[in-house]
Amino acid sequence: MKRFPDKFLWGGAVAANQVEGAYLDDGKGLSTSDVQPEGIFGPVINRSGDESYTKDVAIDFYHRYPQDISLFAEMGFTCLRISIAWARIFPQGDEQQPNEAGLAYYDRLFDELERHNIQPVVTLSHYEMPWGLVQNYGGWGNRKVIEFFQRYARTLFERYSRRVKIWLTFNEINMSLHAPLTGVGLPQDSSLAQIYQAIHHQLVASALVVKACHELVPEGKIGNMLLGGLMYPLSCQPDDVFETLQQNRRWLFFGDVQCRGAYPGYMQRYFRENNIKLEISEQDRAALRQTVDFISFSYYMTGCSTADQASHEAQRGNIMSMIPNPHLKSSEWGWQIDPVGLRTLLNMLWDRYQKPLFIVENGLGAKDKVEADGSINDDYRISYINDHLVQAREAIDDGVELMGYTSWGPIDLVSASKAELAKRYGFIYVDRDDQGNGTLARSRKKSFYWYQDIIKSHGEKL
Ligand code: BG6
Repeated sequence: MKRFPDKFLWGGAVAANQVEGAYLDDGKGLSTSDVQPEGIFGPVINRSGDESYTKDVAIDFYHRYPQDISLFAEMGFTCLRISIAWARIFPQGDEQQPNEAGLAYYDRLFDELERHNIQPVVTLSHYEMPWGLVQNYGGWGNRKVIEFFQRYARTLFERYSRRVKIWLTFNEINMSLHAPLTGVGLPQDSSLAQIYQAIHHQLVASALVVKACHELVPEGKIGNMLLGGLMYPLSCQPDDVFETLQQNRRWLFFGDVQCRGAYPGYMQRYFRENNIKLEISEQDRAALRQTVDFISFSYYMTGCSTADQASHEAQRGNIMSMIPNPHLKSSEWGWQIDPVGLRTLLNMLWDRYQKPLFIVENGLGAKDKVEADGSINDDYRISYINDHLVQAREAIDDGVELMGYTSWGPIDLVSASKAELAKRYGFIYVDRDDQGNGTLARSRKKSFYWYQDIIKSHGEKL
């Protein structure tokens, strides 16, 4: 097979808090992302002063979306993954009525996409929630937040049901274990029991909005979103292999609940052995039985795992306790590049769940050099995405049902981990640096023309 299927969706993915800026415009409330301006592992900062941070303006997508969407259309995008900022719609999170100005903004955005025949793929919550829900209710630690989230989701389904047919619930829901404020609105030093209780509330909320989507959006499809953190055994010692199975279950557990509708046995043992006693009502169990229509995930890298953690302590990366794989090269940010891992992961998820899959994030964060004539020759980005798409095509040939591919950050944006602009993912360059200098002007990189060609040829030119 050389060509991707005709109905395959091609595009890119962004998140509200990493592109929009306009962080207080049109009645928006503060979100967890606004009070954590240095990134998802950074401190919480009181935002009452005059200080300003990179994400406050980001790439000003809030005002410049018409130009950006027309550039996406020029590349041939058939879909664009965005997220809606919950705090634009319910500024504090617990209001009875939504903020009309926030809803109207996304109406305009969807109008623009429609004009260019680009189908929106919308994440309900991408790494942020209204700060008011954290301050006044304790974030997802409080069961009441399920109700507020349902009100928010139902508002969106009702308003946009005609134009948005593909929805995602929580971005990288498994990241709550590593960045609890970003994921579930809990302090970094929360206990595992508190974090899993908050995650439980989120899983119930996710299942309830799947049901609401089916009621309110005719022909709509709604999926979950996982960080695809595939781990390999560091050696073939049986203990390493078993430890790796357990490590993979730390994140696959989310998929198991969202796709199979119940907590798996291995998690019950994990909770028992870690003295985690969750409050799960019969109603919760019934809600969880409502499973997602498809599985979406991000994929950037793989890592290794061993039963002998102590002797490898120093080598561990900061994401998901991965130990580097000696056979792989890394990006400038130390993320190991493994295109074949994408094929393995696609096959593994397909074998496990037999539900359609959607790669909604993949890409290379790198420093780009602008040449004297303004050109940017990002061959490293082209080769990264090319090699991953080749493996995605192989997986389709293996029998995997793959809905589409949205590269992460088709336009440069603010990174999630450290809120940097220096780490660029885009096919489109944005003239802005980490000190806030630059005109915010957009320009096409070499990869822009390459991706355009790939989409046009349905992947034949890979
Ligand atoms: C994913 C997130 O974890 O990875 C995105 O869903 C994020 O929000 C992306 O931007 C890349 O991470 P970073 O830290 O390079 O921006």
